[in-house]
Amino acid sequence: MSATMESQPARRGRMAALAEWADSRLGYSRFLKAHASEYYAPKNFNFWYYFGSLALLVLVIQIITGIFLTMNYKPSAEDAFASVEYIMRDVEWGWLIRYMHSTGASAFFVVVYLHMFRGLMYGSYKNPRELVWIFGMLIYLALMAEAFFGYLLPWGNMSYWGAQVIVSLFGAIPGIGESLVEWIRGDYYISDITLNRFFALHVVALPLALVFLVIAHILALHEVGSNNPDGIEIKKVKGPDGHPVDGIPFHPYYTVKDLVGTVVFLALFTSVIFFAPEMGGYFLEHANFEPANALQTPEHIAPVWYFTPFYAILRAVPNKLLGVVLMGLAVVAFVFLPWLDRAKVKSIRYRGWISKAFLIAFAISFIALGYLGLQPATTAYTNAARVFAVIYFAFFFLMPWYSAIDKTKPVPDRVTYHAH
Ligand code: HEM
Repeated sequence: MSATMESQPARRGRMAALAEWADSRLGYSRFLKAHASEYYAPKNFNFWYYFGSLALLVLVIQIITGIFLTMNYKPSAEDAFASVEYIMRDVEWGWLIRYMHSTGASAFFVVVYLHMFRGLMYGSYKNPRELVWIFGMLIYLALMAEAFFGYLLPWGNMSYWGAQVIVSLFGAIPGIGESLVEWIRGDYYISDITLNRFFALHVVALPLALVFLVIAHILALHEVGSNNPDGIEIKKVKGPDGHPVDGIPFHPYYTVKDLVGTVVFLALFTSVIFFAPEMGGYFLEHANFEPANALQTPEHIAPVWYFTPFYAILRAVPNKLLGVVLMGLAVVAFVFLPWLDRAKVKSIRYRGWISKAFLIAFAISFIALGYLGLQPATTAYTNAARVFAVIYFAFFFLMPWYSAIDKTKPVPDRVTYHAH
């Protein structure tokens, strides 16, 4: 038989031999075993456990669409705005690529906020997952920087003034403030030079950092094993085979489960892309359909929705420096949770009513601040933001106290699981 007429089994045999050759030099089957087919995850994962894999999916979507956008985008003050219009009108499928990327930015934050909230509910940041949490927080900071730099690139009027407001915040730092602002901009105002460096950071530096941090995040998680809605360490109860009795192999059980989440997510994601890509001005702001104009500020400057809880805190404080400090603290406060939380149990299921009340109040204050950050800074709105900011910080600062005194319920040895 000639080589072109090779039979199916013979070809399969040659493929298997090739795979074995590569595996004995790379060891990927060992890696896949350790992280998928023999990674034992708790069997009681629920809805809230979809968002890690979805965050991974959105990261991949952003990187791929970003590469295609970069092929047609021009990072110069002269051409940037027009090149985005060119992508929208003339580049084949350009409108889809751009809407996937702009919707993907908001989707990223929706998914990551839900992912973080799960961590708060089930105490996933507690011992032994402190490092998983710290890597998660570094991802979150990198993601905020990535979104901020990306927002300047279309060179719309909100891009320009948004960057102007945020960069000038560094000016509040005593002594070095003004020179620091100049160093960041690379110029005396937000200019072509600023756009160029933001482009470099957005397309190379931060995506690289994000990818490395996500790998570290997952490796750290797989070292200690996943938490679960009961907050029970499944490694404590092992069967005769040495595997946790409440654990199931990640592959195929959770790869299939995550596939369901992926399909539902993509249905929602594509609905937004095709029917409401601007999302009423929340995903793509109206003022950004006009080119940057250094002589005319937009009617009211507000960042995209995912930054507005922190923006509301900034505006609620009359002193600029204190506002900047509190805004920064509102973001980084999460890092300290593993050490602020003194409860003996992890999951909210076994915590008392005080912890539950604080968590609910925190979630409400976060959403309320997000709403207020989008509104004009009237006296009534500013006062409301002050009240919610106090609740927001109380969740963190009072935690060492209320988590210690709150009555907890006894935690069972085995996870609760009801087969459907
Ligand atoms: C690009 C962003 C991120 C990606 C791709 C990502 C990915 C993942 C994945 C795949 C898992 C395992 C599946 C799951 O538990 O849902 C996970 C778990 C976890 N992530 Fe993330 N993550 C991201 C951001 C964050 C952030 C911002 C935080 C918190 C600050 C965080 C905290 C955690 C924690 C605590 C766990 C363990 C949860 C548990 O076992 O209960 N992650 N992450």
